[in-house]
Amino acid sequence: MGRLIVVSNRIAPPDDKKASAGGLAVGVLGALKSTGGLWFGWSGDIGQDDKPLKKVTRGNITWASFNLNEQDYDEYYSQFSNAVLWPAFHYRLDLVKFKREAWDGYMRVNRLLADKLTPLVKQDDMLWVHDYHLLPFASELRKREINNRIGFFLHIPFPTPEIFNALPPGEELLEQLCDYDLLGFQTDNDRLAFLDCVASKTRLIAHDDGAHTAWGKRFHTEVYPIGIEPDDIAEQASGPLPPKLAQLKNELKHVKNIFSVERLDYSKGLPERFQAYETLLEKFPEHHGKIRYTQIAPTSRGEVQAYQDIRHQLETEAGRINGRYGQLGWTPLFYLNQHFERKILMKVFRYADVGLVTPLRDGMNLVAKEYVAAQDPKDPGVLVLSQFAGAANELTSALIVNPYDRDDVANALHRALKMPLTERISRHAEMMKVIRENDIDRWQARFIQDLNDITPHSVESN
Ligand code: G6P
Repeated sequence: MGRLIVVSNRIAPPDDKKASAGGLAVGVLGALKSTGGLWFGWSGDIGQDDKPLKKVTRGNITWASFNLNEQDYDEYYSQFSNAVLWPAFHYRLDLVKFKREAWDGYMRVNRLLADKLTPLVKQDDMLWVHDYHLLPFASELRKREINNRIGFFLHIPFPTPEIFNALPPGEELLEQLCDYDLLGFQTDNDRLAFLDCVASKTRLIAHDDGAHTAWGKRFHTEVYPIGIEPDDIAEQASGPLPPKLAQLKNELKHVKNIFSVERLDYSKGLPERFQAYETLLEKFPEHHGKIRYTQIAPTSRGEVQAYQDIRHQLETEAGRINGRYGQLGWTPLFYLNQHFERKILMKVFRYADVGLVTPLRDGMNLVAKEYVAAQDPKDPGVLVLSQFAGAANELTSALIVNPYDRDDVANALHRALKMPLTERISRHAEMMKVIRENDIDRWQARFIQDLNDITPHSVESN
């Protein structure tokens, strides 16, 4: 097996404990450790982009990062990746703000990155590119005569043709994607949606070995649901509590806790979730004074209008619900627009009686898996999970809900709060089995093995 080069918009630098604990970073580092190699991506800093790559080496892995200048950050990251691709891929065409300059900027940065990476690629290297910021990246590398194996993993959903084809450069993006040798998706629905989109634009030929050809380019598609490191999470969750948390746990010992955490993003269904909680309070007054819902949602992509709008909407909803149902001495909903360290979150998960994860659309949702892995197996909490999270395909023993249906979510919350211990234990054990079988190591090992097994890139003459 050759050396591995990982490319992602953001890299998790070697000494950044906060980022490196996350799912993608753990998986990518696991893969890099076994083959040795390079992780190439944006430093997260905005500034002069003409400096040489910043390189840091630890053992057999090198991190190579670059800055984005302000215009590139704005057009490639904010406007095209996060105000066109992100909403469209999450089925929110109403939030798409397409501008020709942003598309040009997206392509310009993909070309720039291909220029920066090309001199670093050796003949036997395999490349693994991540996520929607880099859909045209393989295509740019091919133009620079990089014929190595290049795989792509999409962390977010892939939309059906009715949605995808509304993107003005949709066909171009599809053709560029076919320059990858292997395209990995979170679920089979996403994989099939991609193939449907291709078939809606050109002749798609299926081969006996599972590969396809479109626009004369041969590629493989496969499903790799991303996982977590369950033992590591259990260890973080069960360790001693910092004094402040211990005090809080003690204060809340007679209260049942409902807990959620995610980036503040409209795809996560937060206003709908607040309203479902309101319905719970409305329909089941027996819980008044005895439950507490804590929502942590740090600001994300704050320069994009839709993210500013969702933040205002949530602040209004939280105030309204507390104003309506709060009592002297009881606040039903705690909304914290703040970032918390992962290791603290894992401990908070453990003491939450209900993990509430109700995105309107989500590629996988690792929080759902982390919540389950953080539980005490002898007295676990209950996961209430949206049917529209990729994780719902695997965590079928969660209470699966439709996030658009306030009554459905409220009823599931009521059921979760009342669930007997034996049922909680058996549901938890069933979910842990799946989480263990399909952990983060398996995710990266399957992808790398499949990429290694396929014949390097071929373009057929039409
Ligand atoms: C999602 C995407 C990732 C992205 C992350 C954080 O999980 O799939 O590619 O890195 O959100 O978003 P940000 O825009 O802050 O990188």
